[in-house]
Amino acid sequence: MANALDTPWTIGGIELPNRLVLAPLAGIGNWFVRLQAKRYGAGLVVSEMVSSFGLKYGDARTHREFLRIHPDEHPVSIQLFGHDAEVMREAAAIVAEAGADMVDLNYGCPVRKVCKTGAGSALLDDPDRAVAIARAAVEGAGGLPVTVKLRCGNRPGERTGVTLAHRLVEEAGVSGIAFHPRHASQQHSGQPDYDLAAELVRSLPVPVMLSGGLRSDEAALHAFERSGAAAVMLARGSLGNPWRFQRLLGLREGEPTREEVADELRWVIDRAEEHLGVERAGRYLRKFYPWYAETMGLTKAEKQPLVEAPTTAHARAALDELTAAVAA
Ligand SMILES: Cc1cc2nc3c(=O)[nH]c(=O)nc-3n(C[C@H](O)[C@H](O)[C@H](O)COP(=O)(O)O)c2cc1C
Repeated sequence: MANALDTPWTIGGIELPNRLVLAPLAGIGNWFVRLQAKRYGAGLVVSEMVSSFGLKYGDARTHREFLRIHPDEHPVSIQLFGHDAEVMREAAAIVAEAGADMVDLNYGCPVRKVCKTGAGSALLDDPDRAVAIARAAVEGAGGLPVTVKLRCGNRPGERTGVTLAHRLVEEAGVSGIAFHPRHASQQHSGQPDYDLAAELVRSLPVPVMLSGGLRSDEAALHAFERSGAAAVMLARGSLGNPWRFQRLLGLREGEPTREEVADELRWVIDRAEEHLGVERAGRYLRKFYPWYAETMGLTKAEKQPLVEAPTTAHARAALDELTAAVAA
């Protein structure tokens, strides 16, 4: 698939080899998921959202788990959330110290637990605070580019996100915007407004990364072309399918074979055990298995032992069984 997605671009002076970005995914986008996306071609990877308060007040384990960066995943952006400018300043400094290449701020999360503290998409309704937080992050990040991921608004028809994006660039010195053109009350469903994204792209003096509705190769390409965005952020479309990065970059065609998917999931299991220990990895990975089962195109009966695997040992055995059945 030949397209402009494989051309380089820059954000805040950082050179990126192509226009595919791994989106921030809470509870998912740790170092090995990001490393996986990078192995398959992503030009930039963004972490799961990390609490700025958690970094300031957290213990060594918080830092070890949320700020672990693999040497091969650069350039990497760590996404922070929070509602307090001074805490954000310190958190951005901690992230810079940990070796990130960029800091991203979450102004788009619609989850009640986050919004009721005044963070996430609640900041769309509190623009002065939103600007102050971003300015503090820019100062705390010590020269690293800061980007903000936001939505078009909290409620249908709102454009508060568009207005805020301009203020964040002009008043806070933000280097780029990741735009998810669904209002927060839509959560993650409904058609994103790519024409509104195009309007933002045209009017903003910094790059816009587009998020939303990119669950197939065709959808990602269509949204990229329609919006004119500098890059697209793959989110749910990348889960269990890092091959999508390769296909969109014109590096491969078609879906992977069952063996390829099984080998990739074995790699994920190994990394999760390394990161969390065998027991926690077994629990953590349960949400990952259905994604890989779907990419393998398994029937309900075929996928059952994998998606219900209580431990990583059971998951490995299920994978061996699935690939042995193909080899036989
Ligand atoms: C499970 C899940 C976790 C997410 N976590 C985050 C997050 O931590 N930070 C963020 O800015 N967006 C988060 N998002 C939003 C995605 O980055 C993306 O904007 C959204 O899924 C829309 O893209 P898609 O329709 O292509 O999946 C999350 C989405 C999902 C489904």
